[in-house]
Amino acid sequence: MFDLPDDVLQIQQLARDFARKEILPGAQHRDHVHEFPADLVRQLSEMGFMGMVVPEAYGGAGLSTLAYVVALEEICYADASVGVTMSVNNSLACAPIVASGTEAQKLKWLPRLASGEQLGCYALTEPDAGSDAGAQRTRAVRDGDDYVLDGNKIWITNAPYAQVCVAYANLAPEERHKGVCAFIIDASSPGYRIGKLEEKLGITSSATSELSFEGLRVPAENLLGGERRGFGIAMATLDGGRIGIAAQALGIAQRAFDLACAHAKQRMAFGKPIGSNQAIQWMIADMATRIESARLLTWRAAITKDGTDKARASHFCSMAKLAASETANFCADKALQIHGGYGFSKEYEVERLFRDARITTLYEGTSEIQRIVISRNYLG
Ligand code: CAA
Repeated sequence: MFDLPDDVLQIQQLARDFARKEILPGAQHRDHVHEFPADLVRQLSEMGFMGMVVPEAYGGAGLSTLAYVVALEEICYADASVGVTMSVNNSLACAPIVASGTEAQKLKWLPRLASGEQLGCYALTEPDAGSDAGAQRTRAVRDGDDYVLDGNKIWITNAPYAQVCVAYANLAPEERHKGVCAFIIDASSPGYRIGKLEEKLGITSSATSELSFEGLRVPAENLLGGERRGFGIAMATLDGGRIGIAAQALGIAQRAFDLACAHAKQRMAFGKPIGSNQAIQWMIADMATRIESARLLTWRAAITKDGTDKARASHFCSMAKLAASETANFCADKALQIHGGYGFSKEYEVERLFRDARITTLYEGTSEIQRIVISRNYLG
């Protein structure tokens, strides 16, 4: 499959038009003042983009993962901060409820998240449980009809604005991942506290903070997938999240590429456009080739994700994330180099792309973690 089907092309066009008309013009300003794009998120909600793969029966758009990643790339072409806000809601908050929720949980939580009436976040990472996600120390203790949660989460995208949190806590930390449970948490619950807001290198207009749970009572009916099933849910959720980050990275890479081409054609040096030099031509060729390769891998991962072979999907999701995130950093770096000193200035968009690209090889699993997941499928 090398061309997108017509229905996906329509979604792509819709996302592209919106992204370039409504999102792109304010992206530099929001980045400079670190402004959360609340109004754009509201508009994305109205377009059905906050619950793209949620079935229509639960208020979502009922689209394929391929349509989702194609749309997300377009949004991130304009502003990766807007894109990650959308990606976390879709991939990390809605998806585990779609995959593992009971019918009652789906009916209660998905319509509000998919419609954008409420924003979701995903709380897995802890101070001592980053790449080693199985080292969850946040405690969950059963008490009557509730679980009581105590612990700290860090680097939680969307947390400062989220009303719903899919969070992980451990019944038995000494058993590592085997004690982990997943919960759907109403962020207005007593004991749910938003901590320090992170000042970040890039994606500065997305919102990231610490979270703490202090004697937080979660009704047992909010347990997702059963006791001690949380780690598998977290990992399966991240498979989907990783294609979202691949799409984000592709958007950044494509924007960097387009800006680099435009500059190479227009910037004169030694009496001719700099793009007439082989040094620039080779950079452009390498950028284009890496983007096309990563995009094909991302589309393949998306199609596989909608199939029945979950292990195969996990494999391609990690490959797509690895390829696309490394490509985004490569392209942003080359685009900045082609811009010369101008690229180092905050007046130029490539400076923001260079900073925004950096997170893509870190969150939702570093490049090193993706290599672990991929190589295990060959070496055991
Ligand atoms: N789907 C379902 N289950 C899975 C799975 C998957 N993709 N991968 C592993 N599992 C299951 C295994 O089958 C195993 O189950 P059993 O105990 O029943 O046998 C269990 O999970 C443990 O698996 P492993 O032994 O492979 O676990 P591990 O401790 O070696 O860790 C890891 C594996 C791949 C390194 C994992 O810890 C990992 O992915 N780490 C990175 C964490 C990460 O990506 N964090 C991102 C934070 S979220 C974020 O960034 C969001 C944001 O704000 C934008």
